[in-house]
Amino acid sequence: MLKNDEVPFYEPMLEKMIKKNKKRLNYDFLSSKLYNDVDVFFIAVGTPEKNDGSADLKYVYEAVDGIIKNITKNTTIVIKSTVPVGTNNKIKEYIRDNLKKFIINVVSNPEFLSQGTAVQDEINPQRIIIGTDSKQAIKTIKDIYKHKDEKYVLTDSNTAELIKYASNSFLALKISYINEVSNLCEKFNANIEDVEKGMKMDKRIGKYFLNAGIGYGGSCFPKDTKALEFMAKSVNSEIQTITATIKVNEKQVTKMLDKARKYYSNFDGLNVAILGITYKPSTDDIRDSPAIINLNKLLEYKTAISVYNPIPIKKLKEIYKDRIKIVNNIAETLKNADICFIFTEWQQIKEMNLKLFEKNMRKPIILDGRNCFELNQIKDYRVIYESIGRKTINNLN
Ligand code: UDX
Repeated sequence: MLKNDEVPFYEPMLEKMIKKNKKRLNYDFLSSKLYNDVDVFFIAVGTPEKNDGSADLKYVYEAVDGIIKNITKNTTIVIKSTVPVGTNNKIKEYIRDNLKKFIINVVSNPEFLSQGTAVQDEINPQRIIIGTDSKQAIKTIKDIYKHKDEKYVLTDSNTAELIKYASNSFLALKISYINEVSNLCEKFNANIEDVEKGMKMDKRIGKYFLNAGIGYGGSCFPKDTKALEFMAKSVNSEIQTITATIKVNEKQVTKMLDKARKYYSNFDGLNVAILGITYKPSTDDIRDSPAIINLNKLLEYKTAISVYNPIPIKKLKEIYKDRIKIVNNIAETLKNADICFIFTEWQQIKEMNLKLFEKNMRKPIILDGRNCFELNQIKDYRVIYESIGRKTINNLN
């Protein structure tokens, strides 16, 4: 697909960029020619979670092996993949034991881009962490990136690796924290949006990653928090705040299903509408998506499920085949539904015509896990509307 200028996943701006730089890109990654005369290798392969929560490094080592076998001169390896603390040092030893002909500098340079804004994040990063003891390697990286000096944090590789886990886990911690506060809001009849607003105005707290919802998902936060917890245990230590973060998230993810039981003690026989299936908007990624966890739970019942997502998700059809109906417009998804779950805050969902709920649903019960609508907007419709950390609107009585 890449050879035909096609990107195998959805990421805004990426396809345009790949087309623009067509002449400079070569995808012969299985050929040894790729390794000829290369000054710098970037390793950016996945490090998936193993059953015990640790990170699987097999793809990283496969990439290192390819380099060791095929290089034709001294070179630098930049590790962008999120790898457990100590991995860069182990790779250095591995190279020393297996390669005598050339010298390779190894640099930890963790990646902080977010899906959906990946190209922007890459072009204009907030910081660049370089973990290495090689002055030559630092120069090589700075020559490539050409950013202002104040953007760089120069450190050793263990520290660089830890910065990545500490950053991702801290963001996950903020989310679990605000989610717990939202649960308190529901108990005290307080409003989470105003709590968030009030907190975000304090610069020390900051305005990002404090949006309550049905928990974090995706290919990074769930995996990296567990990997950090695993790493702490491996050195006979602990990181209790992150252990709590993980536990809170597990519970939060199915919060809307718990709320739905108020209306239906058994989901058998229901028509269910789902709006949004990705782990966040502007991506087609459903890995560890809270929506998928909920969908799988709903499929344990005899439910008829219609799913709408603003951009098509190929994988959904492959995985679920005829067990769900994939629909490309909101009105049809809602047709005759007994309940509607909103799992992702896509702009198309936030801006939908609210009349569609009462017009199309058999029973307009809406469980919004991402607070997509203002209570003031929705209160004028004949619906039951439950969201996160805000009062319930019940206009059906
Ligand atoms: C994350 C980090 O942000 C990025 O720096 C790192 O390189 C990779 O992991 P990403 O997984 O693309 O990026 O998504 P992000 O925008 O961080 O969102 C992760 C999850 O947190 C999503 O499920 C999102 O819905 C959730 N989230 C985010 C909240 O529930 N509330 C928030 O306030 C922010």
